[in-house]
Amino acid sequence: MSNRPLNVGLVGGGKGAFIVNPHQKAIHFDGTRRVVAGALFPDPKIALEEAAKWPYPIRGYGSYDEMIAANKTLPEAEKLDYILIVTPNFVHFDPAMKAMKAGIAVFCEKPLCLNLKEATELVKTSRKLNVPFGVAHTYLGHWTSRFSRYIVQSGLLGDVRWVDSYYIQGWLATKLEATGQQQASWRVDPKRAGGSGCGGDIGTHALMQLRYVTGLNVTDVSAQMETFVEGRQLDDHFTIYCKLSNGGKALVRASQICIGSKNDLGIVVAGTKGTLRWRQEEPESITICLPNQPDRVYWRGAVAGGDGFLPKDLPADLMAEPTIPAGHPEAFHDAFARLHRCFEVDVRKWKAGEKFNCDGSKYANVQDGWTGIAFIETTVKSAASNGKWTKLPKP
Ligand SMILES: NC(=O)c1ccc[n+]([C@@H]2O[C@H](COP(=O)([O-])OP(=O)(O)OC[C@H]3O[C@@H](n4cnc5c(N)ncnc54)[C@H](O)[C@@H]3O)[C@@H](O)[C@H]2O)c1
Repeated sequence: MSNRPLNVGLVGGGKGAFIVNPHQKAIHFDGTRRVVAGALFPDPKIALEEAAKWPYPIRGYGSYDEMIAANKTLPEAEKLDYILIVTPNFVHFDPAMKAMKAGIAVFCEKPLCLNLKEATELVKTSRKLNVPFGVAHTYLGHWTSRFSRYIVQSGLLGDVRWVDSYYIQGWLATKLEATGQQQASWRVDPKRAGGSGCGGDIGTHALMQLRYVTGLNVTDVSAQMETFVEGRQLDDHFTIYCKLSNGGKALVRASQICIGSKNDLGIVVAGTKGTLRWRQEEPESITICLPNQPDRVYWRGAVAGGDGFLPKDLPADLMAEPTIPAGHPEAFHDAFARLHRCFEVDVRKWKAGEKFNCDGSKYANVQDGWTGIAFIETTVKSAASNGKWTKLPKP
């Protein structure tokens, strides 16, 4: 493949859409990827109007079917290398399947899709056709998440006994959906969001953070899923007690009714030798607590090995990740950019006919997306039986 920037096509993103915005910034972050096309809205006429209003020129399409079909006849320089799916959850499965079958890689928003049947088909198809498939679990893209993963998985904190992984918000503390607010309306509708509201929307992020940092899986859950806002169909408060694959325990919790909480995602990992704490609202540092010692705060960009806790030699690929000097803050957009940057590496290898990783070490993959959906389906079952311990299906 030539050295041209990768061409990205958007599915969704018109008319006041939310998450397309940080994604499109992240796509353009390095100059090696660009948005070139979009099917931005379900109504074809509005989709074309929205594309014409895009801040830079893109090819507009009336639907993602049209965008994918048109790709076949485009010259190589204009062909899509991957699509970015930023539609509500019920419009993830269909464009993802169609893109893979048309030989286009897929970067899809979370949760992966609506149910385990769809998730299983997506996993099987991506394996059979050998297509790179990323899932946008944003917070894995922070350098400090990579560093946390290294610390925990290299055993520096001993055996993991307990994890508290959480995502607490307050924006759905009132019946916002009744005002017609776009993002609230579909998130509380089981047909468009899936079997869980709060759990599917942000509980899956908390689960992914736990799995990414610790490398452990949740094997069993005892779930409480509550709806505090009257008349709402899906949960707005999600509290899941978990058994972990190493015999440890965890709490995966999420809430959207805690007034004052914004995007309070964080993780506490308590091991036999020490504890790690990290919060995405202050993503530039992690805190390590060791017995009978002052807490250690490690800042991105100012980490050096051989300090009495970290070994002298730190992993070269971790230390070589592109960052800016400490104290010039990285945040949400940088995390998105790191995910797209790493996905780009795999897409370029795939295009060149080489073996690509897509192994979940740099961004969540379709199997991680499957695990998120399996977790949600199992928590719904457990909550319906009053929190009965329930096993997750095996991948
Ligand atoms: N990774 C994250 O941190 C994060 C944050 C927010 C949202 N999300 C996920 O991103 C997705 C979108 O969420 P949002 O808040 O941006 O929603 P949104 O309602 O703001 O935007 C959805 C967009 O999809 C478009 N759309 C709907 N059906 C379509 C179709 N058939 N064809 C083309 N476009 C269509 C809408 O017109 C709109 O432009 C969801 O799956 C959500 O869970 C992820």
